[in-house]
Amino acid sequence: MNIQILGTGCAKCNELYEKVKKIVEETNPTATVTKVEDIMEIMKFGVMTTPAIVIDGTIISQGSIPKESEIINWLSKNGKTDLKELVKQSYNDLALASDDKQKCCCNPLAPAAPSKKVYTIMSEDYSQLKGYEPDADLGVGCGLPTQYARIQKGNTVVDLGSGAGNDCFIAREETGETGKVIGIEFAPQMLIKARANAAKRGFTNIEFLEGDIEDMPLPDKTADVVVSNCVLNLLPQKDKIFHEIYRVLKPGGHFCISDVVLNGFFPKEFTNNAAMYAGCIASAIQQDEYLSEIEKANFTEIKVERTKTVEIPDELLREQLDEDLLAKFKAGNVGIYSITVTGKRASE
Ligand SMILES: C[S@@+](CC[C@H](N)C(=O)[O-])C[C@H]1O[C@@H](n2cnc3c(N)ncnc32)[C@H](O)[C@@H]1O
Repeated sequence: MNIQILGTGCAKCNELYEKVKKIVEETNPTATVTKVEDIMEIMKFGVMTTPAIVIDGTIISQGSIPKESEIINWLSKNGKTDLKELVKQSYNDLALASDDKQKCCCNPLAPAAPSKKVYTIMSEDYSQLKGYEPDADLGVGCGLPTQYARIQKGNTVVDLGSGAGNDCFIAREETGETGKVIGIEFAPQMLIKARANAAKRGFTNIEFLEGDIEDMPLPDKTADVVVSNCVLNLLPQKDKIFHEIYRVLKPGGHFCISDVVLNGFFPKEFTNNAAMYAGCIASAIQQDEYLSEIEKANFTEIKVERTKTVEIPDELLREQLDEDLLAKFKAGNVGIYSITVTGKRASE
């Protein structure tokens, strides 16, 4: 196992290096730990903030000093990355990096943070929508799920992977005082931001629950409407999620989800890259397969309401693919799309 600690020599970077070195000596002495301090070298990894940990070429964490238990967990995977944990860590880091007060002392990429492109190439402009809360918009959505969600006053809306609460605040505008919005999120730092945003506005009918959306902390038949923005594509396995959405929807309820899907050849090099994974692309599946998962979960009236092409800049593609693969990718009639899809749970 090859572990690299990326950092420009600041106190936090050195602290992380010493911490990882000590854990490695105690738990995995065959692994190598090296420092990468040259900014040009660090930028090649595409990290947003330092200090960062890279294991066998995969960025595992960035912008913070992880807990000892987390580092031990990563090392024990013996090179195999737990993708869910990786996503959680990435969005935790993103929540921290979005908060100036908590930005790491030695972020070589700040303030522009070029790798933010991984997270923002699909983002929409939400600023004109009623209920928009700028502090909840971290630029990580890929559609406008509330646009087709037909939310009524008094509805209970559940938002899957609610982040800092962007879509929840927009949904709350539509449910009004008499309705309720529940965001479900597994990255603790996102939850902290979301709850602070709700408290700042004095909203008592928005709740952010910590949990995994594949096993929601909600009883059956809770929601009139389920929304989600750019989240399901992050799940390593897609089969469970639509059954879970069906379970929490009331009979006659519906969902509106914006997500990333593919059409055509997609180089597997993407799926090996953690940054692409966390950026919603690497784990996206073919559109046909996606819609078929929805059907298998018994939804009716399935409709793709909107399709938007996602353009990946050449510069970013070159970080993942060599010239041969890039040419194959471009010739392969590949499409990466953000779709907004709706479906209904039949009335009983
Ligand atoms: C691309 S961001 C979108 C956030 C938000 N929907 C928005 O548009 O601003 C994906 C969010 O989903 C969360 N997430 C990913 N997988 C999850 C899971 N299995 N359970 C709960 N939250 C998850 C991530 O932590 C992250 O906050």
